[in-house]
Amino acid sequence: MTESRSHITRREALVGAAALGAGFGADRLLGSADHVATPSSASTPDSPAVPFYGSHQSGIATPAQEYLYFAAFDVATDARAELIGALQRWTTAAASLSAGGPYLGDQQELGQPPAEPGEAVGLGPSRLTLTFGFGPSLFEADGRDRFALSRRRPDELRALPPLQGESLEASLSGGDLCVQACADNPQVAFHAVHLLARVASGVFVPRWSQLGFGRTSSTSRGQPTPRNLMGFKDGTENIRAEEASAMSDYVWVQDGDGPSWMTGGSYLVARRIKILFDVWDATTLEGQQRVVGRHKLSGAPLGGTAEYDALDLDTERNGELVIPSDAHVRLASPQVNAGQRILRRGYSYSEGVEAGSGEIDAGLFFIAFQRSPMRQFIPIQRRLAASDALNRHTLHTSSSVFACPPGVRPGEFLGQALFSS
Ligand code: HEM
Repeated sequence: MTESRSHITRREALVGAAALGAGFGADRLLGSADHVATPSSASTPDSPAVPFYGSHQSGIATPAQEYLYFAAFDVATDARAELIGALQRWTTAAASLSAGGPYLGDQQELGQPPAEPGEAVGLGPSRLTLTFGFGPSLFEADGRDRFALSRRRPDELRALPPLQGESLEASLSGGDLCVQACADNPQVAFHAVHLLARVASGVFVPRWSQLGFGRTSSTSRGQPTPRNLMGFKDGTENIRAEEASAMSDYVWVQDGDGPSWMTGGSYLVARRIKILFDVWDATTLEGQQRVVGRHKLSGAPLGGTAEYDALDLDTERNGELVIPSDAHVRLASPQVNAGQRILRRGYSYSEGVEAGSGEIDAGLFFIAFQRSPMRQFIPIQRRLAASDALNRHTLHTSSSVFACPPGVRPGEFLGQALFSS
């Protein structure tokens, strides 16, 4: 069965929204089709807009913003048309949100619940990007192929295999769909997910979410390297958007890699990694540097003097490797991983204090984009799980993988090619 754009018109989608309890003036909420196609005047030099439409989804090659709100959703219906309708509403809303809308001004009606929750009014686009992904369970779950999609599932899209040393919480893992909202203002990111949840209310049900602050990577040459919560510069050896051939080789799914609906997309792996601060904070500076394999202050590799010096994995001093055999950067580097690289785009997180132990529950919400989890994240993480010195200081508590389809062209909806014959 083929559902083309002409099959489900925008009007039908909006009628659907109303019927699903989103009957709060979806037309005004989402703006007119013309409005969403045009960048909003809300974009200012202080709060610029990142284009929503394009050959790749934004939020992957986009220079990493400062804040994250990540949410996973499950689909509450078995009806394929309802799934498509909700994706169409998400597309319209995402285009509008990215441009700095929706803006309702004084169009709110006193007699109705406000269509626009309002918490981002006046904040501008703040470089908001919305990156959407499909989880393995959308294609098949518990032996059920609810949406006739199982034969379209890429081989790459499988729940990650169990990995040594992890202690996963199912309630923080997986999901039929995900939204990665990134912005330079945390309230803009929150608002976007809040609004998307409302727009798809009754069809997409929030499953888990994660707030992130402080990017832990640079994804563009223009960005300085930030520090993670362990105090180390993070993202030095990351793929940068300007490296066009690395983006094709390691990030964007290429023609022939699998089903054509994923060409131009990328696979997102998310892992919540708790930092065991009681152990880490009691480790000497030298010990911390040997765990990572870099100098804490400058970010230079051990044995080097400047941040961007190349890793020297062979030099020994007093019969010992200068970058220890179990140092994180050694075991994660392409030199020992068959040349493979990933694009890291994670954020720090903090979830307050753990009841009982009084320990701070904080760490890294690791996000990586790649062309092939089977060739990239999984083998790298297997190597790290086996002997990374960082394992004494961290615990992986959640795991998810999503297939992020290519970008949306005007007139299409998100992931449309997945639903075409
Ligand atoms: C809490 C967990 C983690 C922390 C604190 C952490 C921290 C760091 C730091 C400080 C660096 C050196 C600077 C840089 O090049 O970015 C680094 C490099 C790297 N990390 Fe992690 N990391 C963590 C987990 C992971 C995981 C789970 C993976 C992937 C499976 C990973 C993959 C990499 C890679 C590929 C590099 C670059 C290695 C190179 O080519 O030199 N990291 N990490």
